[in-house]
Amino acid sequence: VVVEKQGFRHFMLKEIYEQPGVVRTCLEAYLDQDWHAGQNSETSPIHLNLSPTLTENLENIQILACGTSWHAALVGKYLLEQLVGIPTSVQYASEFRYAPAPITPHTLTIGVTQSGETADTLAALDLEKRRRGNLETKFQPHLLGITNRPESTLGQMVDEVIDTHAGIEIGVAATKTFIAQLIGFYCLSLDLAYQRKTLSEERIEEILDNLRYLPAQIELILESQERYIEELAHDFAETQDFIFVGRGINFPIALEGALKLKEISYIHAEGYPAGEMKHGPIALLDNKVPVVSIAMPGCVYEKVLSNAQEAKARDARLIGVTAMNDTEANDTFDNLLPVPEVEELISPLVTVIPLQLLSYHIAARRGLDVDQPRNLAKSVTVE
Ligand code: G6P
Repeated sequence: VVVEKQGFRHFMLKEIYEQPGVVRTCLEAYLDQDWHAGQNSETSPIHLNLSPTLTENLENIQILACGTSWHAALVGKYLLEQLVGIPTSVQYASEFRYAPAPITPHTLTIGVTQSGETADTLAALDLEKRRRGNLETKFQPHLLGITNRPESTLGQMVDEVIDTHAGIEIGVAATKTFIAQLIGFYCLSLDLAYQRKTLSEERIEEILDNLRYLPAQIELILESQERYIEELAHDFAETQDFIFVGRGINFPIALEGALKLKEISYIHAEGYPAGEMKHGPIALLDNKVPVVSIAMPGCVYEKVLSNAQEAKARDARLIGVTAMNDTEANDTFDNLLPVPEVEELISPLVTVIPLQLLSYHIAARRGLDVDQPRNLAKSVTVE
């Protein structure tokens, strides 16, 4: 398959713009359009076609991944624990290989990988398969893959796959495959929440409706924000350090925002849970270190704002990813990256977009090879 840039300056920018379509395709593949709460309660509104044995008697989930996929896994953990109540651990595959967690019964192992070929992730899954297969018990070594490459080595290795329908990604820095992995986790969590009745059908329908608005909301961010972010990026041509903070479901997005920036712009960036700033990173702050804070309406909103104030008191330039109609945020932040107001549960799917654009434009402004950053590879097939 020959993939072209279609007028975009870089594949990364093209792939950022493909995200509304990717979300739409993935939702169309899995959501039942005709399902309504209270009407046909025998079937789940989400058709992932996973065998019932994969999720029956499920007590624990462990997720193995690397890089950006590991960040998607952290959002997945939040959803699986908060919506379904299943204790979920997220491990770096490269760490798990040499120090696997003790085997727990009735555990589903999920491997997340855009390439389906990352050596560490494959090796960690293989280890898990072997050690569970060797157990003299009835527990089956259940493995589930979440990937946009169902034909990959991962696809052949696991029992079942959730195909995220993102297609091939060329830019080394993952964008559309990340958002697609997130949609995969929303679908899995809502399907399990339906099966286990941890959420009411009405609540599930409400979340699904909110997911269906997403493609248009992402389009709106791209249309209304890109030019502003491109201009804002000029201010950071000489910046050497960035801090990204978020809490709760947006903590992984702070990690992802920092990773995107360092991957392609070579600026040192750290992602932190906002409440942990006072235990270290705050010592780094002065007027040369911008702080990007994800402050969306929800249970941690006030906390994130007060964490941002702490940074402001150290002269840091504050950039807020906030809801479009949030007037309070104006007083706190020097620059706003507004996104449509969505419920907190959905917010990672919108907050990540301006962060992708910000890192893209900073790197492009610096004249760097955005699609092929130094020392990095799209798929890391060596240990
Ligand atoms: C490489 C890529 C990253 C990616 C990571 C994990 O480092 O440059 O973009 O997140 O591998 O890749 P995977 O294919 O397993 O998601």
